[in-house]
Amino acid sequence: MEMPALTIGGRTARVPVIQGGMAVRISMAPLAGAVARAGGIGVIAGSGLTPEELTAEIAAARGIAGPDGVIGVNIMVAIARFKGLVQASLDAGIDLVIAGAGFSREVFQWCREADTPLVIIVGSDRVAQLAQRFGAAAVIAESFEAGGHLGTEKSLTELMPEVLASVDIPVIAAGGIHDGHRIRELIEMGAAGVQMGSLFAATVESSASAEFKRMYVECTADDVMLVKSPVGLPGRALRNPLAMRLDRQDYPPIESCVACLKKCNREYCIIDKLIKAQQGDVDAGLVFAGESAVHVSEIPTVAQLIDRLQAEYASA
Ligand SMILES: Cc1cc2nc3c(=O)[nH]c(=O)nc-3n(C[C@H](O)[C@H](O)[C@H](O)COP(=O)(O)O)c2cc1C
Repeated sequence: MEMPALTIGGRTARVPVIQGGMAVRISMAPLAGAVARAGGIGVIAGSGLTPEELTAEIAAARGIAGPDGVIGVNIMVAIARFKGLVQASLDAGIDLVIAGAGFSREVFQWCREADTPLVIIVGSDRVAQLAQRFGAAAVIAESFEAGGHLGTEKSLTELMPEVLASVDIPVIAAGGIHDGHRIRELIEMGAAGVQMGSLFAATVESSASAEFKRMYVECTADDVMLVKSPVGLPGRALRNPLAMRLDRQDYPPIESCVACLKKCNREYCIIDKLIKAQQGDVDAGLVFAGESAVHVSEIPTVAQLIDRLQAEYASA
């Protein structure tokens, strides 16, 4: 059996897989463009970019994706530049906007005015209902197994039935999905599609450094841990000297601050640590990763990864 197509607010992707937005600078034009070209929804992470950089990434991703490719942006509500980044994406004619890490009422209006579907990342039925009431085109139910900032302590198996029962709009499942069998289970449960992050971070087209990708290949279940983030949410990352320091509450001093977050507890500078890891300093940088990272044993191309997911789905 083939995977069903995924339609969100009138935009249809042949493959019901959204590549999760991954900041800072992990999911850029090469990754998003390749995913969209392969039939999924490619997502550029806007958090940590300037509006001008994001505009350029969208144009580059479109060039790779081709005319039918669906390209979205993911922007964290917690980012100080949230409005400017959403506006730049809408001005560039983005296919959909995905927002998480906080709730903004205003973004619904900006997207409505631009006639662009808005997708909200939720960790509960309550927030899913709120998103639907404000006009979200779909919600992404993201669970505790996911990489990056976490908005719930619920597993995907607990969260999905709760969110599916609470809204009529499409529900996308995210968190810990690492093969086509799981995608099949979730679609049969009622999911319209899935969002996957970690497996795409470890592809050829991901803009993470080789060192970052190698940590994914080499990690074991004991290496996947929770860290505190100055955003005020826990984050899932791989064990390294920085994560161990954070665990001991031995916070590295802030070297310079660009006030990138609306609210920051200033324990340490997360953007600096995410950029360090993206660029290859995987001792002093923060290597965000979901539980699925333990299933990464090689670095495939996006096309190879999507082919594998489709074959597993068909044989499930
Ligand atoms: C390195 C990394 C960076 C991430 N950055 C973001 C982000 O900027 N915004 C966001 O909404 N989610 C972010 N996420 C979450 C992913 O978009 C995705 O929802 C999540 O990874 C799904 O779980 P999985 O990794 O188990 O597939 C990030 C995840 C990873 C692994």
